[in-house]
Amino acid sequence: MPKHPYTAIENKQPGTIGCRILYFEEVESTQNIARNLAAEGAPHGTVVIAETQSAGRGRMGRGWHSPPGVNLYTTIILRPKIAMAEVPRLSLVAGVAAAEALEDVAPGIVQLKWPNDVWLNGRKAGGIIAEAVTDRTQQLDSVLLGIGLNLNLAAHDVPSDIRARAISVLIATGRRCDRVAVANSLFMRLNTRYMETVTQGFAAVSPAWERYSGLTGKRVTVVDAGTRAEGIVKGIDADGAL
Ligand code: BTN
Repeated sequence: MPKHPYTAIENKQPGTIGCRILYFEEVESTQNIARNLAAEGAPHGTVVIAETQSAGRGRMGRGWHSPPGVNLYTTIILRPKIAMAEVPRLSLVAGVAAAEALEDVAPGIVQLKWPNDVWLNGRKAGGIIAEAVTDRTQQLDSVLLGIGLNLNLAAHDVPSDIRARAISVLIATGRRCDRVAVANSLFMRLNTRYMETVTQGFAAVSPAWERYSGLTGKRVTVVDAGTRAEGIVKGIDADGAL
């Protein structure tokens, strides 16, 4: 693959996140590209980045606004040896890494909203999706960890339907950031947090998640599979549940 803006941060160390970075000008979704690469045997830590997505995917069937030139849209192929039920924890681990990477460029205003939202000043600046891929025997083959971060998106370019809820680093701080530097920080921090989880368990990372939690102490209504529960958020448990 020819040189691209992210070539400089490809670390070439097998087994680590960012060992290989594949860059595309335009894709439907980096999740789809990563799925094909995973099926072809791409190793753990392979990263897909797109300049723009024509059909970026959010959680729960939503879309992800993906204009060119301003944000970071990436999917990381992970090959963890874990049970399917543990996959959602990886998106919490990614949330910590994303919060830490944004802290570099937007200090003091980063929070996480369970399960997968990254907030700046109480509005959504990033989202995470973790898609599990199974093999023919229904065992976990890989996890496609998709991360979208609004970095240099200007206020007038935020679509009206999400304007009240969405924000970017530029909108929050008034400063543009270096997307390649944010991506580098994200992949390095994700590698560190992922390895902590692998070697010591999720309990090693959950205190960091708690420190960024924007919901702790707040009254919330949780709607899950048709049931509604109301209460005050205490934090997350050892499984990452609210
Ligand atoms: C959410 O908050 O709903 C999750 C959003 C995830 C968006 C990212 S952008 C890169 C990757 N490719 C996609 O199509 N989605 C994820």
